[in-house]
Amino acid sequence: MKKFRLAALMCALVCLTAPAFAAPPATATSDAEARAAAKAARMQWFADAKFGIFIHWGIYAVDGITESWSFFDGYVSYADYMKQAKGFTASHYDPQAWADLIKASGAKYAVLTSKHHDGMALWDTRQGLNVVKDTPAHRDLVAPFVKALREDGLKVGLYFSLIDWSSPLYPAFTQAHPRYAIKDDPARWQRFVTYYQDQVHDLTRRFHPDLYWFDGGWEHSAEEWHAEALHDWIRAHNPDAIINGRLPGFGDYGTPEQGVPITRPPDKYWELCLTMNNSWGWQPNDDHFKTPHEIIRILSGTLDMGGNLLLDIGPRADGTIPKIEADTLRQVGRWVHKNQEAIYASQAGIPHDYYLGDSTLSKDGKTLYLFVDGKPGGAVLLKGLTNRVLVARVVGNGTMLSPKRLGATLGGAPSMLAIDVPDYALDPDVTVIALELDGPIKLFHPEKKSGS
Ligand code: GLC
Repeated sequence: MKKFRLAALMCALVCLTAPAFAAPPATATSDAEARAAAKAARMQWFADAKFGIFIHWGIYAVDGITESWSFFDGYVSYADYMKQAKGFTASHYDPQAWADLIKASGAKYAVLTSKHHDGMALWDTRQGLNVVKDTPAHRDLVAPFVKALREDGLKVGLYFSLIDWSSPLYPAFTQAHPRYAIKDDPARWQRFVTYYQDQVHDLTRRFHPDLYWFDGGWEHSAEEWHAEALHDWIRAHNPDAIINGRLPGFGDYGTPEQGVPITRPPDKYWELCLTMNNSWGWQPNDDHFKTPHEIIRILSGTLDMGGNLLLDIGPRADGTIPKIEADTLRQVGRWVHKNQEAIYASQAGIPHDYYLGDSTLSKDGKTLYLFVDGKPGGAVLLKGLTNRVLVARVVGNGTMLSPKRLGATLGGAPSMLAIDVPDYALDPDVTVIALELDGPIKLFHPEKKSGS
């Protein structure tokens, strides 16, 4: 940020001293370019990571009810919701086992709910509710997890809810009973802003997160949140950190929720957050689990559009991770590890007009990865590929393939490529075919009559 300020200052000086005809747009452009370059550098690990694990852990896991919303929406009284604090023991919490499991899933980062909308922080905050003083867990649960993640070479993301429905300084309490309106008591709101931003400062100083995952911004405007001040503070104190797009007006990437987008999201960087069943936190009554195969297909659909997947788990109040979630992570991990060359550091694949399925491209655009779900009914077909294929193979098992061109080239359009994959080389979930090309991919476009 400092760099941009300096550039802006230099621009101002040039503007003042230069004659009127010497317009300064070049400086403005280089300022924007510098900003874009800084962002690209900051986003690199995230863009390459492709897969992360979200963890919703809080007192809501005691009774297994919806995080925060259950009292806000009036399904349980605030008093009863808060009684759960008494049962939040974290007695079997094993942060290293969590980190190891995340690593086994193939994820490169994790995002832990350091504080949800209910205001109960998982670390030792100076003010507000926290599990150290308000629950039998009696210890900071964030610090050991951050340490374990870093020991496993994983990046650290911390979810932080801007909303804090427990704080007497916050305007909303429940849907039915708001506390006050900002316009009637701006000083009180100002105290809230100081309180929540202090907590973010504290998180930064203690844990130096690689990623801030803000949530709840929708309740107020960027101005009301003093989002710019928070953003600038983070950039000054933790310059390489990434900020998700839920800090209104700021943020580095989009956060679609609960379904692979139909069309590619407008943001250059984006991350789909997704529950494993239908709940973010542990809810024993929710058995709508997605199968590992479904999750793998959702992941491949996300990769196809150039995004990341942030897959959620909900540990129990004692810190154990339900077996079905742990098993799912390991099974997804089998596939991710096997196919890692088509996943990490990949870019979005080719349009579905050319290949009726998901695909990715290597960073240099010279390897095309085709994802084949289940057993194909015949050869895998690819249209419009102008390049020569140097090598075709099944990723992760070494089987070499011999693609055939079907028919002659007509009007400059390359003939279809047919790739037979023997049954024995198929993956039980999704098989990935690598096509190593003679150069960066060129697809025939009828209007352009040449590769594009
Ligand atoms: C929504 C919900 C919240 C959940 C989050 C995860 O914003 O308010 O409960 O934590 O999505 O993306």
